[in-house]
Order: sequence, then structure tokens, then C-alpha cells
Amino acid sequence: MVDFKFPAWRQRLVRSLHVNRSQAQSKYFQVASVSKDGLPKNRTMVFRGFVLESLNLVSVTDIRSDKVSDWQLNTPKKFEICWYFSGSREQYRIAGHVSLVSNEILKDARNEHANRESVVFSETYLRQQWTNLSRGAQEQFFGPSPRAPFDIKADDDKNYDSDGLAGIKDINSLNPDGLRGGNAASQATQTKVTNSESQINNSEKSSNAESAFDISDHFCVVIFTPLSVDYLNLKGSPQLRCLSDIENDWVELVVNA
Ligand SMILES: Cc1cc2nc3c(=O)[nH]c(=O)nc-3n(C[C@H](O)[C@H](O)[C@H](O)COP(=O)(O)O)c2cc1C
Repeated sequence: MVDFKFPAWRQRLVRSLHVNRSQAQSKYFQVASVSKDGLPKNRTMVFRGFVLESLNLVSVTDIRSDKVSDWQLNTPKKFEICWYFSGSREQYRIAGHVSLVSNEILKDARNEHANRESVVFSETYLRQQWTNLSRGAQEQFFGPSPRAPFDIKADDDKNYDSDGLAGIKDINSLNPDGLRGGNAASQATQTKVTNSESQINNSEKSSNAESAFDISDHFCVVIFTPLSVDYLNLKGSPQLRCLSDIENDWVELVVNA
């Protein structure tokens, strides 16, 4: 059934997630930012659903990471997501601006007497995303800073095996949710995107994540607000390419691929 509430690209994206749900990589997209020296930077992130009843996409990250510095230094905080679904041979390039939510950012907002309703919403949202993480993934946010030189002493309680991987017996248990989080985390995120609407759903959180830790000050929710979408479908001849943007009320323009 077509949901006229949302633009065509979002309805397509929900369908792509559903059609490609058996492929774990369907929930990963590449996200580009612009660094302070004007250079493009991109990295893979996990899609964690839409903000309920909206066009906004959600990921989480460590506030100490370079991407957060890029976004904090630049106004507006621009992004481009590139997302390829190999099963259905579709690509989405989604551009727009980023909002960040963390303990510290919320503290500043409260001090600046920002809109109370939006602060309360953000607090609830931060907690919800935190509890959706497995215990292993939560633990990572209390670890050493990303990009700092690796300190084996600080990590020596983690039982290194011959591959030098902390506590990991099976390389397949590595997951992007928390590189040492193991299968529980991976299954938890997988479940989230098999849901056709991919909405963030409390009931799907990992069972061992509940109240494991208070929200780390390093934990950061990244909300991507799309302003334009470039959709390409490689199936069929000719291939289909549709451009749309918020300024034109998301009315699609079909162009040559
Ligand atoms: C499959 C996969 C999924 C990933 N998911 C995330 C994620 O959701 N959030 C995140 O911060 N980093 C994620 N990473 C790690 C990033 O790609 C990147 O290496 C890290 O965040 C540091 O990026 P930065 O220095 O540009 O901030 C993922 C990596 C892979 C390979």
C-alpha cells in the first residue's frame, strides 16, 4: 500500500530495506562529511532506523570521532549518504544536514534554555538509542579515544589470543555495532532493519543491554535530515534515475542515468 504521507524516495527506501533484508550489509551506508581543511571524508555507518514518522535517518557514534569534529566545526553540518542495495541494484544518495544528540550537547541546550519540548524529546531519544545497544557496544563508549595510539597495557585485561583480537575466538563475531560486541549485538541490529518500516523499536533491543550502564558521555546519536535525494535503479533498460529535493516538495524529476 502506498503511504502518501511520505515522499516517493522514502517509500522506496523502506521497500529496498525490506527486499534486501536478508543481506546484513543492507543496513550499512557510507556517510561523507567535509573536514576542517575542506577535504571530503567518508566512512561506513549502521542505519538504525527512521526517527518515528519522519524522513530523518539515525545512526550512532562516538562523540570523540573525527566525523563529529567535522560536523561540530561546520555550520550547516552537511552530509551525503551513499547507500547501495546489491540485491535490488539500487543506489540512494541522500544529502542534507546533521543534528547531534549527546549528554553534553543536551546539557548546553538546557543551559541555553532551548525549547524544553525538544530537549525532552532528545533526552528520551538518546536513552532509547542507548538501550537499543548491546552491552558490548555500550562498553566501547567507555573505552579509550578513537584514533589515540593503541595502548596494550590499558587493554591487557582483555585476554589476547594469537590473532591479537581481544576476547574474540571467531572472527565472524566481529560486528560494526561494537567491534568486540559479538553476535548478540549483530543480531540485535539485524533484527531492527528487517522490520519493513525500520522504525526504532524498543521491544527489539538486545536483552542483555537493559540498564547495563548509564549513558556514556561519549555516546552520540546522529540524525540525518535529508534535503535532496538522488535515486538510481540499475535494473532494467534504460536505468531509472530520479532527483528530488525538499525545496520542490520532493516532487521527483526523472532524468537520464
Ligand atoms: C560495517 C561497518 C559499520 C560501521 N558502523 C559505524 C557506526 O554506526 N558508527 C560509527 O561511528 N562508526 C562505524 N563504523 C566505523 C566507521 O566506518 C569509521 O571507521 C569510524 O567511525 C571512524 O570514522 P571517523 O574517523 O571518520 O569519525 C563502521 C565500520 C564498518 C566497517
